Amino acid sequence: MRIYYDEESRLIFIETKSTTMCLAITDTEGFLNNVYYGIKIQRDDLRYLLRTGVGPFVPSVNERDRGSYLDCARFEFPSSGAGDYRPSAVTVTDDKGHDVSQFLYKSHRIYEGKDKLFARMPEGVDVRMPSTFDVKSGAETLEITLSDDVLGLEAKLSYSVFEDSDAIVKSVKLINKSDSPVTINRLHSSSLDLDRGVWGDKTPDVVTLSGTWARERHIDRRSLSRGNVEVYSTRGETSHQFQPFMALCDKNAGNDHGKIYAQTLIWSGNFLCGSSMDQFDNIRSYIGINPEHFAWDLKSGESFQAPEAVLVYTEKGFDEMSHIFHDLFRDHLIRSPYLHRERPVLINNWEATYFDFDTDKLINIASEAKKCGIEMLVMDDGWFGVRNDDNSSLGDWTVNEEKLPGGLKVLSDKLEEIGMKFGIWFEPEMVSPDSDLYRLHPDWAIAVPGRKPCRMRNQYVLDITRSEVRDHVYKCVSDILKSAKISYVKWDMNRQLSDLGSEGLEPGSMGRLSYLYTIAVYDLQGRLLEEFPDLLLENCSGGGARFDGGMLFYSPQIWCSDDTDAYERLSIQAGTEMLYPLSTMGAHVSASPNHITGRSMPFDVRCAVALSGTFGYELDITKIPEEDRGAIPEQVEIYHRYGEIVREGDYYRIASEAETDYFDAWMSVLKDGTRALLTYVQCKAYPNGKGRCIKLKGLDPDAVYELNLIGTERDDSLFCGREKKKAWEDLAPGALSGDTLMNAGIILPLLPGDYAQMMFEIKRLA
Ligand code: DGJ
Repeated sequence: MRIYYDEESRLIFIETKSTTMCLAITDTEGFLNNVYYGIKIQRDDLRYLLRTGVGPFVPSVNERDRGSYLDCARFEFPSSGAGDYRPSAVTVTDDKGHDVSQFLYKSHRIYEGKDKLFARMPEGVDVRMPSTFDVKSGAETLEITLSDDVLGLEAKLSYSVFEDSDAIVKSVKLINKSDSPVTINRLHSSSLDLDRGVWGDKTPDVVTLSGTWARERHIDRRSLSRGNVEVYSTRGETSHQFQPFMALCDKNAGNDHGKIYAQTLIWSGNFLCGSSMDQFDNIRSYIGINPEHFAWDLKSGESFQAPEAVLVYTEKGFDEMSHIFHDLFRDHLIRSPYLHRERPVLINNWEATYFDFDTDKLINIASEAKKCGIEMLVMDDGWFGVRNDDNSSLGDWTVNEEKLPGGLKVLSDKLEEIGMKFGIWFEPEMVSPDSDLYRLHPDWAIAVPGRKPCRMRNQYVLDITRSEVRDHVYKCVSDILKSAKISYVKWDMNRQLSDLGSEGLEPGSMGRLSYLYTIAVYDLQGRLLEEFPDLLLENCSGGGARFDGGMLFYSPQIWCSDDTDAYERLSIQAGTEMLYPLSTMGAHVSASPNHITGRSMPFDVRCAVALSGTFGYELDITKIPEEDRGAIPEQVEIYHRYGEIVREGDYYRIASEAETDYFDAWMSVLKDGTRALLTYVQCKAYPNGKGRCIKLKGLDPDAVYELNLIGTERDDSLFCGREKKKAWEDLAPGALSGDTLMNAGIILPLLPGDYAQMMFEIKRLA
């Protein structure tokens, strides 16, 4: 039993493999407090932790529990306006405009398994929300019902744990049991109060993932001080700018040491994620939908479901934190049948042709690609309507027969003849002002009557919260998929939401729109996978603006960034890997100089970096230098030989350019310790340096391993030439124990020039 209620002390213990969370129900009033979250401990009587020891000048009433010095108690579901002045997890306004609430314990139940989450669309249909599920191991769930009897509101707080995971997943549902409506202005999925003492005498560091288009998810670290640190999205997508992720860690926490409290949200829309430190050095960490652009009028009898949050605690640093997230997502969130399968190596024509293509051009690319071992052609933007640039035709999902005579069937048949699979790009959520669809239904775009909505990339967002719009969009995609042999869809979304107005919502309910929009996306993708269960779906949002746990519920891979420059990708992928398994990161080899940065890099380095994700190409294979083309068969072979390690293994950060000054290195290790892959990328020449020692990670200390430089099997290898082979042979150790490799390490040769790579297979011999 991993969730245990002690009747006498009224303590609830939620346990994972190595952590304990303890909730306490206070005696006099029934507040729900969180008295402990950390490394696994005995089920002792922890009620003494309710005593805060703070008295003067904070709101309290004499008869209250000692834990009820409201402004410093460790509340599990802090509400607003009743003596706790820190960020609240819930704010509701009653029909008179009061915004005070206080939720007290009413009951709880503990059950095996885990319920699905649902959201209700305006037409009354319930849509399943993405959330973790339970297949591999039995989950256990605690559902606590809290009640505000004055408002007649109930809050159901759910906590689930899995046998094989150290994460705790949480969600909240509000139910209006009164006769009057209330408005929910804020509802966080998780709020966690911690004592600063957890970090000794130092304040913790805050780690977030932030960026912009073409620079997504860079790791950002600074110190927490009094006040709030927040990251957020109000863009209707998780965004290029911030991830719904925050980790509070020891000042000296590193990849393999240090305490970390981390949180994320299984959600693809507006969010708020923060940590605040108050006058008493209490720390409150919170995550949920963003209160900005949100107000939910909850009528009598209605309920509202907030998305699921994931909490992780570890004392073993960032690698361990990432392993917990990666395993949770792989084992309990990603549903795709492709999760554990080798994905087809694809070639995407976007950077090859942009809008300027036709059947012949695509077939030429595909034929050349086939000769090199590539398995699928993905036709990107520009195949429909009269879309020859990004000014028109979104919404008009009819094939442009000038480019593709005979339509998709002819193209897909030709590809089949060559032996190539076929994938296609869509942007179903959007409409171009210059499109037949918009001319017919201008009211289908999200807009506020009387205001000219802003355009982004010359497009508007369709109001898919309306069932007629959503059904139309769905039919367009489904009809196209039925019209030819299509194995893969890249689902793109190239603008942020603005001008939030919907003709489908009742007056006064516009605050529902951004939440419902996200649910509508889930509905569309859920339907798609139900009708086409074998479809390989890749999500995308102008690069990686919707790279999140919500989308992973539908697609096993997400396009990571429009920036395919391998040097830039080192930072983008390192940030993405904080949370997401490598198998989810769309990573392609593109042309040099890179189209976004103008940087030139060797072909093998571009390949080595892309091999850490779902591998593919994004270039005109008919136009690249002969030598590069000649290298592709070997690269594809490398992907097939080692792809399993990347897909299924544990990821370890070995070195980063920020620390070494000139190189990055990382590893993936199969869970049984039999095989590992080490990638070393030297970012710049390092004059008068010497080979640098690195320590390997994740190996079995008692096993014996050999290290093989990848690409040396062939004398004519274009992945790893003779010079490199020689450089490695001078330093290569013989067979060594895992213990030695992890503690004494190996010496990496200094390579000539800027941008060079070496990849090693590490194989267990005995
Ligand atoms: C943005 C995507 O990230 C690109 O890969 C490409 O599909 C373009 N959209 C097409 O418009």
